[in-house]
Amino acid sequence: MRYLVTAALPYANGPLHIGHIAGAYLPADIFVRYLRLKGEEALYICGSDEHGVAITLRALQEGTSPQAIIDKYHPLLERSLRSLGISVDYYGRTSDPLHHQVGQHFFQRLLAKGWLEKRAVEQFWDPQAQAFLPDRYIVGTCPHCSYEEAYGDQCERCGALLSPTDLIAPRSRLTGAAPEKRLSEQYYLRLDALQPQIEEYIHRQEWKSNVGPVIENWLRAGLAPRAVTRDLNWGIPVPLPEMQGKVLYVWFEAPLGYISITQKWAAATGSPERWMDFWKSPDTRIIHFIGKDNIVFHTIIFPAVLMAVDEGYTLPAAVPANEFLNLEGRKISTSRRWTVDIHEYLEVAPDRIDELRFVLTALMPQTKDRDFTWEEFATRINNELVATLTNLLHRILTLLWRNGGRTPIQIDEELLQARAQAAALIGERIEKFDFSGALEALLHLAQLANKTLTERSPWHQAPEQALRTLAAYGDLVAAMGTLLEPFLPVRVAPRLRELLGCPLFSWERLVQPAPLVEEIVLSSSPEPLVRKLTAEELRLLREKLLPSQSSGDSTSSADYISMQDFQKVQLRVVTIRSAERVPKADKLLKLVVESHDGLHTVVSGVAQHYEPEALIGQQAVWVANLTPRTLRGIQSEGMLLFAEGENGELIRVLPERPVSPGSLVR
Ligand code: 2FM
Ligand code: ZN
Repeated sequence: MRYLVTAALPYANGPLHIGHIAGAYLPADIFVRYLRLKGEEALYICGSDEHGVAITLRALQEGTSPQAIIDKYHPLLERSLRSLGISVDYYGRTSDPLHHQVGQHFFQRLLAKGWLEKRAVEQFWDPQAQAFLPDRYIVGTCPHCSYEEAYGDQCERCGALLSPTDLIAPRSRLTGAAPEKRLSEQYYLRLDALQPQIEEYIHRQEWKSNVGPVIENWLRAGLAPRAVTRDLNWGIPVPLPEMQGKVLYVWFEAPLGYISITQKWAAATGSPERWMDFWKSPDTRIIHFIGKDNIVFHTIIFPAVLMAVDEGYTLPAAVPANEFLNLEGRKISTSRRWTVDIHEYLEVAPDRIDELRFVLTALMPQTKDRDFTWEEFATRINNELVATLTNLLHRILTLLWRNGGRTPIQIDEELLQARAQAAALIGERIEKFDFSGALEALLHLAQLANKTLTERSPWHQAPEQALRTLAAYGDLVAAMGTLLEPFLPVRVAPRLRELLGCPLFSWERLVQPAPLVEEIVLSSSPEPLVRKLTAEELRLLREKLLPSQSSGDSTSSADYISMQDFQKVQLRVVTIRSAERVPKADKLLKLVVESHDGLHTVVSGVAQHYEPEALIGQQAVWVANLTPRTLRGIQSEGMLLFAEGENGELIRVLPERPVSPGSLVR
């Protein structure tokens, strides 16, 4: 059997965070590493998803072009994955010309086979930008919670799914103009007509417990035709003259990236035809690792497309979707800065990569959402990884080193059996996509070894007897060099093998209760494989990585602040008691304002918009708790708020009717 393993192509519009890793890239990596140890042919394909509104919106927010966005994030994504030891064989990108060809070929083929139908649909049009607006490009007030910045597809405050027509007072995110409706022609994939074939395929397969019910819901509701083209100027052009200015829908072409990137890989190996061994062979199992939000695209739409083109493509054998990993009890959100980004983790803890893999495997959200906390990060490392696993190895290795470093192993049937059974169980669980269960089985083996070692207490035995006792653990230590490899491949497993001069054993040998080596020969004095995480290290990780939600890095400009942050700002209505120009400063007025606690001097940059006399006796909104600063030798406290008019003029912000000086604005 041959395996093609893929992990969801991440959008090249932002960094990867721990949720992405625990969701798709790490389970896929453990899986392929295990398969390779088993001697299977396993290819791991991934790459950047570089089209769609996810990219164009980010460009809009960062004030740059989509091309600049993908060129910034594509290398960052690949670097993050590789640094974590994610053993992708080829990391491609969907902006690749070859991928464009594949996307257009699939479209044309579906058209020729009669699976596409053209429909005129009403869509929102921005009259100022002269462009159709994707749902995400429209904002307005949520009809459910009155949030004023809800998007045309979803309200990010209350989570309600919306369509742009649900919004109160919709406006374009491009220009602020009120959108109009216009007819636009799009191609639709006839999923309704494909439903019988899809059902037949779905019911032939086994699905994970959290995936099956999602699929059944879609099927029960009945599949409807789905648009595979979009009005957008970024993506793969629809290959038809009459569809100028339109592109293939990103969710139609992105999964085809698995195919085009396999083709890139094959070409890079010098055998361009080899991609077909993976995509057009009944001997290959194709497995897509994804997050739960991608289920329908991988289990229904992508297989439907593969069937409909009728070119002999192998359909996915499994789609092991994971649920979400939360962070300290809250949903991870890049825009709200509630995230632990991988490139930042790597900066703070570059020598603790296997530790992160360990914790993310233990907390993998395989059937339900799980929660990552820094507290648990520390306890898992200290109490499980170090106390149970690597300390055991360290204890054995140090004692062996003290006894000369070269020890013929002692055959111990009980330990051999335990190791073989554990290896079999780990393999079984990995094959069922139960990675945290596999890690538990590994820890269980270490626990057992710890227990017997404590019972036998070689440290209380006479030297010769002690050496015999320890030599019984020689096989286990050698086996660990391979057993740890799928989980801790960056430093821990290779270092252990290096110390022992041991190769990677095949998994087949690990499941046999026969000794793997004859003797243990240590090449140097053993250092602890993993150090405990100190309170100071934990504090640093927390401090550097959690507060990123309030620090001002540049990854997103449309970010939210917390209510707590907003409440730090003290706004009050004040009455202006005197106003005069500041000599030799043509923009500044010196104002004295009255608040609840008396008079305050404010220097304000509005001299070109207001005559001083016109302001005296008027009210204004004042930011009361800004740090005072000195302007032109005058101490200025706080500032007054002005709205910016269309031509840049400043217009005073006021309560609807006068209130007493010092009234709070909230
Ligand atoms: O949800 C996402 O991040 C998508 N970019 C995943 C695409 S997976 C595949 F279809 F390319
Ligand atoms: Zn809402």
